[in-house]
Amino acid sequence: MSRILAISGSIRTESFNTAVLNALAPFAPEGMSIEVFKGIDELPHFNQDLEGDVPASVIRLREAVQAADGVVISTPEYNRAIPGVLKNALDWASRPYGQSSWQGKPVAVLSSSPGVQGGIRAQEELKGQLRNLAAYVVSGPEIAIPEVHTRVSVDAQAVATLNDPATAGMVKYLLEALQLAVDANTGANHVKALNAWAASLAG
Ligand SMILES: Cc1cc2nc3c(=O)[nH]c(=O)nc-3n(C[C@H](O)[C@H](O)[C@H](O)COP(=O)(O)O)c2cc1C
Repeated sequence: MSRILAISGSIRTESFNTAVLNALAPFAPEGMSIEVFKGIDELPHFNQDLEGDVPASVIRLREAVQAADGVVISTPEYNRAIPGVLKNALDWASRPYGQSSWQGKPVAVLSSSPGVQGGIRAQEELKGQLRNLAAYVVSGPEIAIPEVHTRVSVDAQAVATLNDPATAGMVKYLLEALQLAVDANTGANHVKALNAWAASLAG
């Protein structure tokens, strides 16, 4: 069994990236459950002044990331970069100093856009940031979904479906790779090495 937290980089009601995450479940390996996080729109702008009395919305995000065996993030691209709301969530969950929720966490990243490049530049930026946070980023090839409006649909009951077999195949691969990363415990082992080094610096 593995519990995966899904985070959308868009807070738009009809977000394609959120729809993609809502459509993942049929492609998950056996035993994997996927819960889509609701609430990055409730996070205040990151401000160190708030760290003494951390808002409940922040605690909820941190606890959700910590409790998950792995995370999958789908990001849009805004002006060739990741959306501010997503960067804000990364920053909040990277604190307090020395207790980042991202350290060692297996993370699979995808991106989607109505455009033809599928948000690939935002995806690369996001992967770089996650690596800096010592998350264990599932390696390539990149899963970027171009012309996403033609590949995902949401019905009147709010059920999201991936309609495109090629996209479905890519997503299946990504979730299998995430499961392998969870099983291998590579992220947690990396953190052990990191902490041993940090302890040696402290003397
Ligand atoms: C401020 C802004 C900047 C955008 N910049 C890009 C961009 O650089 N590349 C791109 O592919 N799409 C860009 N778009 C279009 C988004 O990909 C599109 O709005 C998408 O539907 C947003 O993701 P969502 O559906 O998950 O909310 C931009 C949209 C906005 C509002």
